Amino acid sequence: MRDFLTRLPKVELHLHIEGTLEPELMFALAERNGVTLPYASVEEVHAAYDFSDLQSFLDLYYQGMSVLQTARDFHDLAMAYFRRAHAEGVVHVEMHFDPQAHLVRGVGLAVVMEGLSLACREAERELGLSTALIMAFLRDRDADEAMWVLEQASPYWEMLDAVGLDSAELGNPPEAFSEVFERARRLGIPRVAHAGEEGPPEYIRNALDRLDVCRIDHGVRCLEDPALVARLRDEQVVLTVCPLSNLRLRVVERLEEHPLPRMLAEGLNVTLNSDDPAYFGGGMLANFLACKRAFGWGKETFRRLAGNAIEAAFVDEARRQEWR
Ligand code: HPA
Ligand code: ZN
Repeated sequence: MRDFLTRLPKVELHLHIEGTLEPELMFALAERNGVTLPYASVEEVHAAYDFSDLQSFLDLYYQGMSVLQTARDFHDLAMAYFRRAHAEGVVHVEMHFDPQAHLVRGVGLAVVMEGLSLACREAERELGLSTALIMAFLRDRDADEAMWVLEQASPYWEMLDAVGLDSAELGNPPEAFSEVFERARRLGIPRVAHAGEEGPPEYIRNALDRLDVCRIDHGVRCLEDPALVARLRDEQVVLTVCPLSNLRLRVVERLEEHPLPRMLAEGLNVTLNSDDPAYFGGGMLANFLACKRAFGWGKETFRRLAGNAIEAAFVDEARRQEWR
């Protein structure tokens, strides 16, 4: 099964590139940039990654990315991830990045875009790995700032495959960003949003109705609302589920209790993704294998899940055909 799952062409729709920062690279970049980290060793970093909820993770996630300062750093971060993903049989990566998390540290959007776009071109050329960019707004910062970031990104609008919404969900409902997402819609930029990870089903509904998103990132709490489940099934809304993330952020206490099998049984359009692999215990293959262990799924189920992601990717039909 490991061979089968490795060879299965896997498309990753929900990944935060800053969440791919492995402790080894974090130390190397800290040294290169003269940044002091609050850890003495890689082991200390791993020990610190004992999260109780989304916020406890986000605190370390934002702290870790302090080592990312130059375009070269963003390039090296992304290339290191692309090489690992490629080795696991990932054929396409759609990555969120968080401009505001860098702007507040004095690292401008041009630096981020230069590094990431260089890595994307290199991945295509050297690995045959295709990529897409999702510029995410931080929902725990205000909507005016998000609008400002979207305007600042005008030189890069053509390069954006989508905009997204991430960071601390509870108390930060999607509708606060309706004007920003309406602006993106008028620019012709597709939209996705995190919803229903820790937040209630209502956030999923409002992301669909008020932000006009084409995918929901996570969405696992939809099962609490049967009418919403019926709608998600009828409209075949793509849900980018991240099992190991949900486990490590204590959305579920054990993977065996994860709602994925029920979501599949409900006929929902589910995909498997890694979210922040450096923080949550592994990339795409680790997530697929963890599902195999927890749910005992056969090859057909994994083919279906991988197929859902192929159909939902921001790529053209010719590309899709190569992976089917
Ligand atoms: N949820 C919300 N925001 C995030 C996440 C996540 O899982 N990872 C990085 N930013
Ligand atoms: Zn996420």
